[in-house]
Amino acid sequence: MTDPDFITGLPKAELHLHIEGSLEPELMFALAQRNQVAIPFASVEDVRAAYNFSRLQDFLDLYYAGADVLRTAQDFHDLAAAYFDRAAADGVVHAEIMFDPQTHTARGIAFETVITGLLSAIAEAEAKHGMTVLLIMSFLRHLDEADAFATLEAAEPWLERIAAVGLDSSELGHPPEKFARVFAAARAKGLKLVAHAGEEGPPDYVLQALDLIGVDRLDHGNRSLEDPLLVTRLARMCMTLTVCPLSNLKLCVVGDMAEHPIDQMLRAGLRATINSDDPAYFGGYVGDNYRAVAAARGLDRGDLVALARNSFLGSFLPDAAVAEHL
Ligand code: ADE
Ligand code: ZN
Repeated sequence: MTDPDFITGLPKAELHLHIEGSLEPELMFALAQRNQVAIPFASVEDVRAAYNFSRLQDFLDLYYAGADVLRTAQDFHDLAAAYFDRAAADGVVHAEIMFDPQTHTARGIAFETVITGLLSAIAEAEAKHGMTVLLIMSFLRHLDEADAFATLEAAEPWLERIAAVGLDSSELGHPPEKFARVFAAARAKGLKLVAHAGEEGPPDYVLQALDLIGVDRLDHGNRSLEDPLLVTRLARMCMTLTVCPLSNLKLCVVGDMAEHPIDQMLRAGLRATINSDDPAYFGGYVGDNYRAVAAARGLDRGDLVALARNSFLGSFLPDAAVAEHL
C-alpha cells in the first residue's frame, strides 16, 4: 500500500499531457454556452457516460468534437489555467504540455489565438504556483506531411516559446516515417523531438521513431516490450518513456490495471515516467495515475521516487535545473 499523501507530496514533472485532453465536461459546457456552440450532450453526466472507449480512435472522435468549444484566446487560457491548478495541487513542479494546433486551425481558429491563450496561462501559472512549463507542438499524424509543414511554418513567430514538436492522433496506418522530413526540419530549427509510438502501433513504429525521426523522448512506448532487443536498446540509450496508466486502461492498451507493465519497465532498466495524457477523458490527473498503478502493481516508495526522478531526468529542462530537482 502506498500513502496517497506521499504521492501528492512527491515533487514531479508531467511530460505527457494534451492540453485539449484536460477539457473537463463542466468547462466544455461553460464554453459551449459562452461561445454559443451546440454540443451533442444534454448534461455533464451525459458527457461522462460517453467516455467508454475500446480503442484510441473511439476516444479521438470525442476529443476532437469536444475541442470545438474552444474558440477564443480566453478559452485556451481558461483551459490551461484549470490544468495548471490541478497539476500544482498534485505536486507537479514542472510540466511539458502538448497542444494540437491543427485541431484548431482546421476549424478556422488562428494559430495565434491558441498560443497566446496558452502563453498567458503559462505566465500566470509560473507566477501563481512557482512551476515551470514548456510547450510541445504536436502534429496530427492522420493528416498529411504538407499540413504538418504548414503548421511548422505557422509556428515560426513563436518558436522561441516552443520547446519541442510531437506526433499524436491515430497511430495505426500513420507510421513515424510519414513525418521524417518535417521532424528533420523542426530539428534544424533547434526544437526537441517527441512522438507517440507503440501505444497501439507495433514495435516497428518505435524503431522508426528512433531511426527515422531520432526522437529525444518516446510517448507511451508500451509495445516496445514485445521486442527484447528494442528494450535493451532503449534502456542503454536512457530513452525516456512517458507512460500513461489510466489512458492505457481506458483505451484498452492493458486489459486491467493489475496487468500494467510499469514495474516490468523499471526492472528492465527503462526510464519510465508516469503521466496523465488526457486526464478529463481518462478519469484522473497525474496523482491519480501514480495512485492507480501503485495500488495495482504494489509499487513501493522507492519505485515512486524513481518514477518522479525519471520525470525530471527525461524533461527538457536545462541540466542545471534538472539537477536542482533531483
Ligand atoms: N491525442 C490525444 N491523446 C492521444 C493519445 N493518447 N494518443 C494519440 N493521440 C492523442
Ligand atoms: Zn498522448
